[in-house]
Formats: sequence, structure tokens, C-alpha cells
Amino acid sequence: MIEAGPAYAAALAQMHAVAFPDEPWDEPAFATLLGQLGMVCFIESRGGFLLLRTVLDEGEIITIGVTAPRQGIGRGLMLQAIGDAARRGIRKIHLEVAQQNTAARALYAALGFAQTGRRKAYYPDGSDALTLCLELEG
Ligand SMILES: CC(C)(COP(=O)(O)OP(=O)(O)OC[C@H]1O[C@@H](n2cnc3c(N)ncnc32)[C@H](O)[C@@H]1OP(=O)(O)O)[C@@H](O)C(=O)NCCC(=O)NCCS
Repeated sequence: MIEAGPAYAAALAQMHAVAFPDEPWDEPAFATLLGQLGMVCFIESRGGFLLLRTVLDEGEIITIGVTAPRQGIGRGLMLQAIGDAARRGIRKIHLEVAQQNTAARALYAALGFAQTGRRKAYYPDGSDALTLCLELEG
């Protein structure tokens, strides 16, 4: 597991295209994201990435994806982000997930994320987004 900076934008774009074939984010998009204040990025060498944005004592998972599913990479990335957030004094981690994304929802539920809301017809295909939150111990 490495903590990645803007130099990894091209590698991130390649992995993102595999994990999200319908909505790839390109290299410039990642370069911009990684240059933002409070952005932390983890890359798993077996094929996975996670971006976490922190503002004061709150965090948001901006994206997570793996290129080799069901090998524990997603869980490892989430645990890394949660541990990192806790060390930074983060109290809550937010994220949003498509209602029909059963794999991601199962992962988040197993880690203790709870639903806080629903954004109706949030995605271009008309599906809803669920907002989830994990409260960290103070
Ligand atoms: C969601 C995602 C990151 C999970 O990563 P992963 O490395 O495959 O997940 P892991 O192997 O760490 O699995 C951890 C847990 O997640 C759940 N899970 C993962 N894939 C699942 C699937 N296809 N169906 C049901 N549950 C699943 C299980 O609870 C699993 O625990 P278990 O293996 O002990 O049963 C991956 O499926 C992915 O990249 N999806 C495409 C991109 C995406 O949708 N990202 C999330 C956007 S909100």
C-alpha cells in the first residue's frame, strides 16, 4: 500500500477505467484531484485505489475501485483510509453509493457504515444514490 501524489495520475486513470468502465476519469482529472488540499490517495499494488478528502474533522471517500475483485483489496483500502482518518482526528467519514451497487454496499455495511440519506435519481441512469456515514471513536 502506498500513499500516492499527482505523479500517479496516469496509473490511477488506468485503474479507474477498469473499475468504472462506464465513467472513466482521465489523467488530468486525477492530477487535479490529487492537487487539492486535504486529498489523500492510497494505491494497492495488486490493483486498487482510494481517494479520501478530509476537511477539518470530516472525511469523504471520493472514489474507490479495484481491478481484481474479491481478493480483499477493497476492504484493505477502506481499512487503510479509516485508520489514516482516525490518526488525523477525523470523526465522521461520508460516502455515496448507487443503490444497486450491491458489492460496494456490502463492503461498507461490513465496515459499519450506516445510511444517512438518499438522493433520488442522482445518477445519469436515473438511479438513486445512498449517502452513508461511519462515525469514528473520539
Ligand atoms: C466495491 C469494490 C471496491 C469492492 O472491492 P473488492 O476488493 O472486490 O472487495 P473485497 O474483496 O475487499 O470484499 C470485501 C467485502 O465486500 C463485499 N463484497 C465484495 N464484492 C462483493 C460482491 N460482488 N457481492 C457481494 N458482496 C461483495 C463482501 O462483504 C466482501 O467480504 P467477503 O469477501 O468476506 O464476503 C469493487 O467491487 C469495485 O471496485 N467495484 C467497482 C467500482 C465501485 O463500484 N466502487 C464503489 C463506488 S461507491
